[in-house]
Amino acid sequence: MCGIVGYIGKEQAAPIILDGLGKLEYRGYDSAGMAILKDGQIQIKKSVGRLKVLEELTHGGSLMEGVVGIGHTRWATHGAPSNENSHPHVNQKETIAVVHNGIIENYIPLKNKLIEKGYSFQSETDTEVLAHLLDYYYKGNPLEAITKVLHRVEGSYALGIMFMDQPDQIFAVRKDSPLIVGQNEDGCFIASDVPAILKYTRKVYFVDNQEIVRLRHDHMHFYTVDEEEITKEATTIDWDTEAAEKAGYEHFMLKEMYEQPKTVIDTLKPRLKGNEIHFDELKMTDEQLKAVRKIHIVACGSAYHAGVTGKYVLEGVARIPVEVDMASEFRYRSPILEEGAMVVVVSQSGETADTLAALREAKKLGFPVLGIVNAVGSSIAREADSVIYTWAGPEIAVATTKAYSAQLIVLYLLALKFGMVKGTLEQNCYEEMIADLKKLPDQIELLLAHKEKIQHFANRYIGAKDIFFIGRGIDYSISLEGSLKLKEISYIHSEAYAAGELKHGTISLIEEGTLVTAVSTQPALYQKTISNMVEVKARGAFVMAITNEGNKEIEKAADYVIYIPDTNPYFTNSLAIIPLQLFGYYVAVGKGCDVDKPRNLAKSVTVE
Ligand code: AGP
Repeated sequence: MCGIVGYIGKEQAAPIILDGLGKLEYRGYDSAGMAILKDGQIQIKKSVGRLKVLEELTHGGSLMEGVVGIGHTRWATHGAPSNENSHPHVNQKETIAVVHNGIIENYIPLKNKLIEKGYSFQSETDTEVLAHLLDYYYKGNPLEAITKVLHRVEGSYALGIMFMDQPDQIFAVRKDSPLIVGQNEDGCFIASDVPAILKYTRKVYFVDNQEIVRLRHDHMHFYTVDEEEITKEATTIDWDTEAAEKAGYEHFMLKEMYEQPKTVIDTLKPRLKGNEIHFDELKMTDEQLKAVRKIHIVACGSAYHAGVTGKYVLEGVARIPVEVDMASEFRYRSPILEEGAMVVVVSQSGETADTLAALREAKKLGFPVLGIVNAVGSSIAREADSVIYTWAGPEIAVATTKAYSAQLIVLYLLALKFGMVKGTLEQNCYEEMIADLKKLPDQIELLLAHKEKIQHFANRYIGAKDIFFIGRGIDYSISLEGSLKLKEISYIHSEAYAAGELKHGTISLIEEGTLVTAVSTQPALYQKTISNMVEVKARGAFVMAITNEGNKEIEKAADYVIYIPDTNPYFTNSLAIIPLQLFGYYVAVGKGCDVDKPRNLAKSVTVE
């Protein structure tokens, strides 16, 4: 996810673009750049790091004079953060500049064709292909060149495009990635999102899929991908800037929860060619995968909880022994890794000190390390032997939701990949599981729609002192994450317990009215978990159950039941966690906590 801004008008473009990019840093912040047109030349400035580096480099934009320009703040997907990979990207003659948010899925074959035609590339990005393709088709008519390019590319894109010999116009194009345009008395604007231009105008147009906008300094024209001119209605935005950054949600955490369906799609779709799993970035052949005899998953916090689920799924589907460690424990326990072992480190930020140290420990012992990381080009991504990215985009809220969901998807895919390579998974069963994976985004959407019901229930517990989460197997790992979500943002003490273990001591803490959340999504364990629910109820607990649609028997033992749609038992974590995220969120909101920035916590724990 990246942020793009464009401007054409009477004012100097660079300061306006920098200001707009600053409102979009929540969309990406590992590098930035601008292209400004002046006296028939395109000036380009790029920088790695936060936007302020570009601001300092250009003296707030004053070193880049001109009234036409485009800019970009990046969240890397293809190619680590670097000057070469930063946007804008240009053709070789530097007569065309492009900024892009999205993923060009067929950029590799297009790049190869362009290289055959003599084009040379400066970056590893998918976006640079667009600059050279526009060059290839441009014969003096920008709209014609743009539509020809759109007929060739596949994937998602929000584009800002500038032609050196067209100083009186810039172009915006959209497919699947958000894009708006706006106008005021001084000029016209392009932006990925409303916050970037709200300071200049509240009258915006939401660009729809496969639409092209031609912006001049005093008016705009809209076209279809077939160059037919269309008219569009403007929208007047009544949000304030801060609300707009959250797209109207009260907190980034809620916004990111609602991004989970798209996150699952973005992480799943590029790795499925039909029903076949392709981990292009996994530098291990099927033979090497087949030779893996044990997997050590090492992570912290929610990433560790995803790893616990990963253990159950990998062992169940691929019959590979899996050990899961908290990174802070792994790195100091002189771990014993046998021949044929591989280490998988999981990290949203890719900068967690303990996880990075565990990675280095594993490599020092001579074992291959796979990173499952969200931040492209982060330390863990760079030091792992291979890395599979979760494409969740920047996650602003300290309490992870969408990145955690994306980690689960990668772990499911890994388990299925291992299962097929090792022959432990029948083809028909594999295909059914792939079909179930594809249903998850819509099912998550359905569960998110229950937020009012969960908010109402959560309000009953804002005064709670202790809340327990119990489950068996995968339900235990779901309980771990549900408990952490609650306590880290509401500051209410909470524990997750293996349901069968409760009676060995902790059950003494259950009092009249204590809330116990029983997660019961594994049909083979339904009865066992029901007996644990009866145990705690006998001691006065109020039991909220999370279970699969159709498991009506649980109503005998539960006081309040939340049902999740039917899916493969190995994938229930992706669904059951949604009501638990919402529960933790609304308890914290009800308590008036700082949900996005909880006390004592940091988004990335880069200290030991
Ligand atoms: C999760 O909500 C917490 N913010 C925290 O436990 C986090 O998962 C942990 O610090 C690991 O972070 P990482 O995924 O960036 O390595």
